Amino acid sequence: LVLIISCTIAAYLLGSIPTAIWYGEAYFGFDIRKHGSGNAGATNTFRVLGKRAGTIVLLIDAIKGWIATSLALMIYYGHLIEWSECQNLKLLFGFAAVLGHIFPVFSNFKGGKGVATLLGMVMSVHPEAALVCMVIFFLVFISFHYVSLGAIIASLSFPILLLLKTFGKENDLVIIFGFILFLLILITHRKNVVRLFKGQENRIYLRPKKES
Ligand code: G3P
Repeated sequence: LVLIISCTIAAYLLGSIPTAIWYGEAYFGFDIRKHGSGNAGATNTFRVLGKRAGTIVLLIDAIKGWIATSLALMIYYGHLIEWSECQNLKLLFGFAAVLGHIFPVFSNFKGGKGVATLLGMVMSVHPEAALVCMVIFFLVFISFHYVSLGAIIASLSFPILLLLKTFGKENDLVIIFGFILFLLILITHRKNVVRLFKGQENRIYLRPKKES
């Protein structure tokens, strides 16, 4: 139990690393939360600091989620738990990392919206579903140019794909956590949802639009 509690705390601390904030401060000398959408995530880094910075933040934030979730594998390979318990612990550690990303202890509990870290978590928990969710995200994104809409739909797709047994029979707990994480993503994106309904959400273009 002590090991599980320690790993949950470690996962939260890992998720808490405020990549976008530290990257912005280290390389550009300012707080990303005071620019663009104000969000300390990969999308806003991309928007404010450019493609390279956005990609680096996205990768690091996803890796945080993947490593935190994979702590369960370390315990499993240490022969301390069964495989089914390992899958359940992945959910606990991944969830802790996503919460850390949203409420980071290292930056006054004001972090990102959880998407990149959730992606890393899902890649560790269910790689096939993660791949399909990424394709769904990309299709929504290239059709509408809204990262937030893509993120919301992709995070809802995860538990729905599992509920529909797309990849075979699933552990009910993964589906339940999937829906809880979707609700969390919906809450962190509440302002984006309002802007989407008002037609005021910021669009992101991978290539600058040609002047007409
Ligand atoms: O992952 C965050 C993204 O879905 C929205 O970011 O900066 O447009 O609020 P932002």
